[in-house]
Amino acid sequence: MKQKTIYTCQQCGMQSPKWLGKCSDCGQWNSLVEETVTVTKGKRALPENSGTAPKRLADVTVTTEDRQECGFAEFDRVLGGGVVTGSFTLIGGDPGIGKSTLLLQAAERWAGAGPVLYVTAEESTRQVKLRASRLGVSANDLFLLAENSLEAVLDRARELKPAFLVVDSIQTVFTAALESAPGSVSQVRECASRLMYYAKGEGVPTFIVGHVTKDGSIAGPRMLEHMVDTVLYFEGDGGHPYRILRAVKNRYGSTNEIGVFEMKDVGLAEVTNPSEIFLAERPEDAAGSVVVSAIEGTRPILVELQALVSGAAYGNPRRTAMGIDSNRVSLLVAVLEKKVGYALLAQDVFLNVAGGVRLNEPAIDLGVMAALASSHLNRAIPARTVMFGEVGLAGEVRAVSRPELRVKEAARLGFDCCLLPAGNLKNLDVPKGIKLIGVRNASEALEHLFN
Ligand code: TYD
Ligand code: MG
Repeated sequence: MKQKTIYTCQQCGMQSPKWLGKCSDCGQWNSLVEETVTVTKGKRALPENSGTAPKRLADVTVTTEDRQECGFAEFDRVLGGGVVTGSFTLIGGDPGIGKSTLLLQAAERWAGAGPVLYVTAEESTRQVKLRASRLGVSANDLFLLAENSLEAVLDRARELKPAFLVVDSIQTVFTAALESAPGSVSQVRECASRLMYYAKGEGVPTFIVGHVTKDGSIAGPRMLEHMVDTVLYFEGDGGHPYRILRAVKNRYGSTNEIGVFEMKDVGLAEVTNPSEIFLAERPEDAAGSVVVSAIEGTRPILVELQALVSGAAYGNPRRTAMGIDSNRVSLLVAVLEKKVGYALLAQDVFLNVAGGVRLNEPAIDLGVMAALASSHLNRAIPARTVMFGEVGLAGEVRAVSRPELRVKEAARLGFDCCLLPAGNLKNLDVPKGIKLIGVRNASEALEHLFN
């Protein structure tokens, strides 16, 4: 064993032998922290993989994955149809979004199949008990453990032999093997990797909770994401009761699935028809409102855009945009003026992305243009129509990336018509229940919407 000092970026996990003011990997300033690491000789292999000789693919025997459904249909679906034996899952989300609530409710259901060990490293057992009584959770086989030391957690787990293990949260447990503080990148990585060995070695499905940093990534993010089998994000706006559980990575299922929940005063309830909630907040038959299918990172989201076009009182007309670049809005106003022939130059234009989301991709152009036109003409767009596409200066509608993902999300949320660039139609799988309309330019799109 050898001790050495290394500097680790707390943002992305980049490691450097000397201190740097700016991380050379992610560009964050002042994020490198000194950590001592103990280097052990010899490598560790996954228990299931150690000491095996190469095998022909044909000789590998497959037993069907052992899956257990918890009865929380939305949760099971996001996992790919239940919890797989020995799987290692990370649940990330903003503080206070409901991760502990979700896992406690799931733990109650799992406890039917055997003991569940819920390690609460953030809250006392009393606090968890209070929450459990509020939720009406009273499973007999649910064990709570308020413990921060990873070694102790693993010892207790080996004694109890639970059928499921939950560690809430990975940032508050620490291992004595490292000197760095709990929550630092190397602690998070080391603890997660020990838990992974436990999960794989004992075949116990293990869930860890990870808090998300301000810019939306799980602290110590990248190495955690490649280490685990499944990454789920629990998201939602604190001001609204709806929460979305999304698989960002899943070795046991598709990553396009989402689960929708509603936070009530007695815990999380499943929302079985999510399209309703998305349409519920939207004024029906209101001119200027459009739903676009956007992609955030790797994730598709449907967002409502609202436009208001009204006569300018005096002086220069205003162009105000919230949640989207106002230069793009000015550009699209000019395209509508010049290529479609709407008289907008003397009008005030306001544009808002509902729900406080920020959208940065050109694929929402078509939606912005349709919202402006809808408000200008004072004609509503059908409530179950969604669109996406980039609009060029000549008024042409250009193909965008990942059309299938956008269409699939729209179909999944109950939309029945989708306007998209004609160039995106090629080789596209059309999900059931949604009609695709390819458009080549702005006039064609508007003609389709308003004639
Ligand atoms: P929690 O699960 O503690 O969030 P996290 O573990 O992600 O930090 O949930 C906290 C919020 O959920 C809290 O602000 C209150 C709300 N809540 C309810 O509205 N109803 C409930 O029944 C419970 C348990 C929590
Ligand atoms: Mg919590």
